[in-house]
Amino acid sequence: MTTVVRECVPISEARSQSAATTISSHPSRHSSIRAAIATAHANIALIKYWGKKDTLLRLPFTPSISMTVDQLYTTTRFEILPSADHNFFVLGGEEQSGAAAQRAFDYVRLLQQRFGVSGHFRIETVNHVPMSAGLASSSSAFAALAGAFAGAYGLHVSRAELSRMARLGSGSACRSIYGGLSEWLPGTDDHSSYAIALNEHPDIDLNLIAVQVDVSPKPISSTQGMARVVATSPYFPVWVQQTRKACAQMREAIQRKDFSAIGQIAQQNALDMHALNLTARPGFTYFQPDTIRAMRVVDDLRASGVECYYTMDAGSNLKVLVQSGNVSAVTHRLSHDLPHAMLTRAGFGPGISVSRLGEKE
Ligand code: PMV
Repeated sequence: MTTVVRECVPISEARSQSAATTISSHPSRHSSIRAAIATAHANIALIKYWGKKDTLLRLPFTPSISMTVDQLYTTTRFEILPSADHNFFVLGGEEQSGAAAQRAFDYVRLLQQRFGVSGHFRIETVNHVPMSAGLASSSSAFAALAGAFAGAYGLHVSRAELSRMARLGSGSACRSIYGGLSEWLPGTDDHSSYAIALNEHPDIDLNLIAVQVDVSPKPISSTQGMARVVATSPYFPVWVQQTRKACAQMREAIQRKDFSAIGQIAQQNALDMHALNLTARPGFTYFQPDTIRAMRVVDDLRASGVECYYTMDAGSNLKVLVQSGNVSAVTHRLSHDLPHAMLTRAGFGPGISVSRLGEKE
């Protein structure tokens, strides 16, 4: 096995062994097989990307900062099939033919054009993240697909290039190339818009508890939600201004390893984003009754001296930011007040790992 993406964690050392074992690491019966497996971890934005200035290239209006998490990840195997007459997309062991497959095929064709390569292919993916529920499934999914694609074609790409490639599939995916904390530099064109590592091994006591109050698909996709606020909200320019400011403050808070500031800035930025959604024409929200209940629990806990903060993405689920010493107090109270919610504790996760599976004959 050869690792083809520079500076990455070999798959044998990645935490995602359970996923890797559910996907065959052997070339199939086709001859001249070239395949690769990549594992990418989801990232949760502390400062949100919410609005594109170029929808095709997925160029954002603002920078954004995220935490890559260890417990939510995607493992994807990409195999080039020279003698096949169509493409395959297998998700969680089942072959897909709907919109998800089409999106993946279109994305791969885009990458093929970009690198001047061709051929039918098979994508096999296992997503350890509930999809379309605001738990950043697309971040790990498109990062893993970009990595597996690069591995299968033997492309020697830098992590910045891999980040650009992932961005073309889903904006937030560009940050999942890195572990720890990363920042997406918005840039002005395809070349200048990619993520960088802020700190891949942060020495910060920061845990995230994902509170799944509802795993049903979100009412409006992140792409549609963003497009609507950009096109119709009179407050969009204010959001852009505030988010740029929040990003600068977050960078400083991270450097100071200041948990309180990180939490406060992240919570306010999430509230700004969700407030913006209400000001679109027509307004919309991802909140469900239990989202608001969970927000109140976090605010109450903090008022009573258990320091914790929340953030939310394009979905009804909350992510609570908390230091290790308070994890059990927060978990206990959330389980009591929201008995149906599923709680997942996560810490900092690693960057992408890509392993090439070799050639046959
Ligand atoms: O990358 P997308 O299209 O799934 O958008 C993600 C948007 C948020 O998760 C809400 C914010 C972010 O920066 O991840």
